[in-house]
Amino acid sequence: EDPRIARISSSIRIIPDFPKPGIMFQDITTLLLDPKAFKDTIDLFVERYKDKKISVVAGIEARGFIFGPPIALAIGAKFVPMRKPRKLPGKVISEEYSLEYGTDKIEMHVGAVQEGERALVVDDLIATGGTLCAAIRLLERVGVTVVECACVIELEELKGREKLSDKPLFVLVSST
Ligand code: PRP
Ligand code: MG
Repeated sequence: EDPRIARISSSIRIIPDFPKPGIMFQDITTLLLDPKAFKDTIDLFVERYKDKKISVVAGIEARGFIFGPPIALAIGAKFVPMRKPRKLPGKVISEEYSLEYGTDKIEMHVGAVQEGERALVVDDLIATGGTLCAAIRLLERVGVTVVECACVIELEELKGREKLSDKPLFVLVSST
């Protein structure tokens, strides 16, 4: 394993019982406080994706907006925000996904991506995989190829990876 991973992993703070009892919250704000760990995080993604002909990095609100843009800049791709409902001002397409109770949506501006583009989807964390799945569906609906999904953290026991079926998922830190 890359020696940079240990520093990244130990810079992530775990907060028990947030936002509700029984949840061990993986807090990446402490990773952001360590410039070396933050840089290593971005570098590891950039090293992996720089020669993959990716034209668009799609970042998922909110924490995909932290990691996606520096990756996009470094690999020379555009950045497209995938936002929670009613935040984007232009015409949007949206995809629904399930939460523990009820559903949520993510939206993307019409015209932000073109058919045939190659995308990397970025978020901080995969739990059940519902959010990444919706992002993939949104991009595929408009003819974009999703090359891979990249997250800093995977909550392995929730098996979100299986929900992505054929889509590759790359993570830096796995948590059980
Ligand atoms: C968290 C996390 C991922 C998503 C993962 O975001 O940042 O985006 O949940 O969950 P899933 O794999 O079960 O879909 P959240 O929806 O809490 O919102 P935020 O990033 O805006 O804080
Ligand atoms: Mg999120």
